[in-house]
Amino acid sequence: MATPSTFPSSSVPGNTQPIIVAQNLGKTYRSGKLEVPALRNVTFSADPGEFVAIVGPSGSGKSTLFYVLGGLTHATSGSLFIEGAEFSRLSDIERTKMRRAKIGFVFQRFNLLPTLSAYNNIEIAHDIANIGAEPKQPLDRALLDHLADLLGIKGRLDHRPNELSGGEQQRVAIARALISRPAIVLADEPTGNLDTKNSDAVLEMLRHSSRELNQTVLMITHNPEAAQIADRIIHMRDGQIRNIEKGRGQILHED
Ligand SMILES: Nc1ncnc2c1ncn2[C@@H]1O[C@H](COP(=O)(O)OP(=O)(O)OP(=O)(O)O)[C@@H](O)[C@H]1O
Ligand SMILES: [Mg+2]
Repeated sequence: MATPSTFPSSSVPGNTQPIIVAQNLGKTYRSGKLEVPALRNVTFSADPGEFVAIVGPSGSGKSTLFYVLGGLTHATSGSLFIEGAEFSRLSDIERTKMRRAKIGFVFQRFNLLPTLSAYNNIEIAHDIANIGAEPKQPLDRALLDHLADLLGIKGRLDHRPNELSGGEQQRVAIARALISRPAIVLADEPTGNLDTKNSDAVLEMLRHSSRELNQTVLMITHNPEAAQIADRIIHMRDGQIRNIEKGRGQILHED
């Protein structure tokens, strides 16, 4: 099938084109003679402001999809459009610019910079998102206060990652992803290390980001209750999308 090189941009006011379009994405890892097909024919799209959860067993390709959608690794087949631009046709510099300006990442293993305090980790992410921006947006201290408050890390901002618990590091990583209000938030197991109270706070925050701030949120989770906060739930197995269902848009607790 011929693939168009561009889609109309969703940043045009009133344009409701999807902000992410994935068409037949494939990713095969190669090490020596060994080939691991981690993604196969993954096709879906996400609209501005949509909250999508991605669930599936360990090894089903969720993190690989996260890396491909974020432009951190190349798909080996298929096409990916972000805001109408085909990722593989952008130069490395253009792709990096797009990633910095448009995408906030919450990594499964947090990836905080170990020599910097929590505050400086958040600040540097904001600075990186602003490279090349005209005019530069100053760090929104009110937003940082708000995020730190909701995430319960206000008293921890002077600490380095190795002085923080896993759950605290995770919450710093979430503040870092949201501080520059990116159009797309990619979150890999953002509640994996959190207790119910903090997990609910994070899910509500991501819900707010999508509903009120029109950010597109893609959240990988193992937790079926957490997935229900999304508008849509994508089920993956063996690198493929097996099913897409509607989420309830709110947190469900069975108790
Ligand atoms: N760098 C790599 N080289 C080779 N194979 C890899 C690499 N990264 C992942 N894989 C393989 O690709 C498949 C998908 O891995 P991926 O990390 O995307 O799974 P996942 O769904 O995120 O799992 P989990 O829930 O455990 O985080 C697995 O079989 C994994 O072993
Ligand atoms: Mg993973």
